Amino acid sequence: MDISATAFLFLTFLSLCLYLLLFTSPKKPKSNQGFKHFPIVGTLPLFLLNRHRFLDWSTEVLSNCQTNTAVFRRPGKVHGVITANPLVVEHILKTQFENYPKGKRFISLLEDFLGRGIFNSDGEIWKVQRKTASYEFNTKSLRNFVMENVTVEIQTRLLPILGKASETERILDLQDVLERFAFDNVCKLAFNFDPCCLGGDGTSGADFMRAFEDAATLSSGRFMYALPGLYKVKKFLNMGSERTLKKSIARVHKFAEDIIRSRMEEKKTTHVKNNQDLLSRFMGTQENNSPEFLRDIIISFILAGRDTTSSALTWFFWILSSRPNITQKILKELETIRSRTGKKLGAEYSFEELRDMHYLQAALSETLRLYPPVPVDTKACRNEDVLPDGTLVGRDWFVTYHTYAMGRMERIWGENCGEFLPERWVENGVCRAESPFRFPVFHAGPRMCLGKDMAYIQMKSIAAAVIERFEVGMAEKEKSPKYLLSLTLRMENGCPVVLKKRDPSLAI
Ligand code: HEM
Repeated sequence: MDISATAFLFLTFLSLCLYLLLFTSPKKPKSNQGFKHFPIVGTLPLFLLNRHRFLDWSTEVLSNCQTNTAVFRRPGKVHGVITANPLVVEHILKTQFENYPKGKRFISLLEDFLGRGIFNSDGEIWKVQRKTASYEFNTKSLRNFVMENVTVEIQTRLLPILGKASETERILDLQDVLERFAFDNVCKLAFNFDPCCLGGDGTSGADFMRAFEDAATLSSGRFMYALPGLYKVKKFLNMGSERTLKKSIARVHKFAEDIIRSRMEEKKTTHVKNNQDLLSRFMGTQENNSPEFLRDIIISFILAGRDTTSSALTWFFWILSSRPNITQKILKELETIRSRTGKKLGAEYSFEELRDMHYLQAALSETLRLYPPVPVDTKACRNEDVLPDGTLVGRDWFVTYHTYAMGRMERIWGENCGEFLPERWVENGVCRAESPFRFPVFHAGPRMCLGKDMAYIQMKSIAAAVIERFEVGMAEKEKSPKYLLSLTLRMENGCPVVLKKRDPSLAI
């Protein structure tokens, strides 16, 4: 055992002793009215026993609570509330928005990686980024982005890769392919850089993606420590996961900063205004932004758009692989759109045609209900408060809304909540909108996801192009995938698939 490992063990032991000595019962809010209805769960042994199946365990706990809200305690004075109650979600995300920021704890855990980017900031710093970025997500920009980037990536990279795998009968990790697709796409959106992760030759872009992946996974791992401050000890000693994290972050930061600095140089010399990507927008509107702040802004956007759509699509294809009747309904809808516009199989869909795919949208929404890419999301309570269901929340407590559990609540979705039923979304042939407080997959209120429309259009383009051309079967049919809780909900061992062309004569 080397010296740093011994020091680490010693410090772990020391912090454990300190914890046992110092930890007292949580500072209760003045009244305990909120506690009487709810079991106090989340004691250390329960948490440790269930950490590997946190989502299902906490879903069970919440469905057994009277108002689907539970009080949760962990050592290190981290206390809070977890809820699957739409009224509470509306209260924290909209009505009392100012009282429930991301908060110091959330921000400090992700600060090394995300700095003060939109995903990791509150107040004015958040507001100014939100305002500037929102222009990038209007209909015109969205249409251009889809037609120029998504379609090109599908035609020139995704389909050839899938076509080749089907010809050689090679098993392909669909999750990996979709993540590479999304990463290429969001880098183009963020700073007009194409890392060529899909179909590329494993050069610097792929290295950037790998470092990004590690940084995201290891940063989110900081939330799962049984002793919340332990990561600081490891960080101080520069050991274990913290050492890897530091290296990954340095690689991500350097990569982004190099691009930003060269763009700044370019701007000085050419004076050409190029507002096609987010970086240009932020360089154009706020001249004094430092390269570091621009880097933080860009990294947050890459994080937001990177794993979310790929996560949703991976679960979507897994679900469809055992539901041929739903695949047939999607194919029928695509056929109807083609015959209406006289388009042949193989030709790309327009933006308007993609918007018209209501059944496909319903099937995707149903996937998002059961497998939300962001399964839990946490805020901090600024001032003591009473939630609409009577639960008292103390100052500085965390408040987590549990999107994964909400998608599985009988009280919200009825007795058939466990069934995959796209029809529950369709009304008069149109995919209906659900209240974002009952279905907070894209968040709700002032911080609602900026990329929601973009995500649906991107997912529909990919799903339509793939489903029309291939039958996607799981390579390990008998196995149910396990989820891996990173910042998003991924499959633990990837998603190995076998592909078969629907029409062997169709050239891809
Ligand atoms: C299925 C796909 C997606 C899902 C489920 C999703 C979900 C979410 C959620 C839950 C949040 C709130 C996170 C928080 O504040 O804690 C969020 C925020 C955000 N999302 Fe998405 N997202 C998706 C795709 C995208 C895409 C493709 C983009 C484009 C880059 C994007 C951009 C953003 C941004 C910029 C925010 C921050 C908004 C703010 O804080 O004001 N998202 N998203």
